[in-house]
Amino acid sequence: MANIQLYVASCVLLLSLSWRTSEALPVPAPSPGTGGQCADFYKMLLLNISNALDSIYLTDGIQSEKIEMRSTGDTVLACAPTLTQNLGCVTQRNSSFSESECLKNIKMDLLYYHEEIASYLGGPLKNGPEEIRLLSPIVEITKNLTENCFPQLDVENLPSKASKDDKKWGNDSYSNRLEMNKMMKGFHIRAITINRAIGYISSGDHRK
Ligand SMILES: *[C@@H]1O[C@H](CO)[C@@H](O)[C@H](O)[C@H]1NC(C)=O
Ligand SMILES: *[C@@H]1O[C@H](CO)[C@@H](O)[C@H](O)[C@H]1NC(C)=O
Ligand SMILES: *[C@@H]1O[C@H](CO)[C@@H](O)[C@H](O)[C@H]1NC(C)=O
Ligand SMILES: *[C@@H]1O[C@H](CO)[C@@H](O)[C@H](O)[C@H]1NC(C)=O
Repeated sequence: MANIQLYVASCVLLLSLSWRTSEALPVPAPSPGTGGQCADFYKMLLLNISNALDSIYLTDGIQSEKIEMRSTGDTVLACAPTLTQNLGCVTQRNSSFSESECLKNIKMDLLYYHEEIASYLGGPLKNGPEEIRLLSPIVEITKNLTENCFPQLDVENLPSKASKDDKKWGNDSYSNRLEMNKMMKGFHIRAITINRAIGYISSGDHRK
């Protein structure tokens, strides 16, 4: 199990590394929803997730190194720029990059984590005030992003949010926190992918 998770994580890292960094390029007008305040929100999201993971309040008493990735949705593949080399762990995608597919997957991820983290905070918490202080900004930012940063997406076509009857959180704050810890590690990796994808989209490289 741990091996599979590690394997998936390293594939994600490899994929992430395959993006060209576009910092030095002149930046054309970004696609709607990827510039300005939205771009700042994606960065802030990543910082706030790192912050939460670095904090003792979410890791206190937890030995597990496990990472849980959200597997439904296909952000990693949908948002990979057209790959030019086989990386060993991904099926090479031969279609061209679809901005709307990528953004749709990002939005679904954000909706999912928004719901899950908000519902976690409604359950029993060991370190209540601190967990709320760390996680509620993430709930806020994911909400802001999904509401304000996808003007070009037809929301009607999106599947419904994280299913309500998903009984992830129970009555035991320790098991909940253990699950949240794994989920946040997955969200951290996903947030890195999302930031790179947003950078790629706003660089305009895929429209050349
Ligand atoms: C979230 O990120 C922003 C921007 O970096 C920072 O000002 C804020 O303190 C962070 N909040 C938490 C709880 O990490
Ligand atoms: C992509 O690959 C699949 C399977 O290898 C192939 O059937 C399809 O024609 C390819 N599409 C393009 C646009 O090259
Ligand atoms: C979210 O957006 C609203 C208005 O769109 C703004 O007032 C609020 O400060 C934003 N929240 C965060 C955390 O940036
Ligand atoms: C959780 O707690 C609620 C309220 O105390 C109770 O009704 C419910 O049966 C509990 N669920 C489990 C799985 O223990």
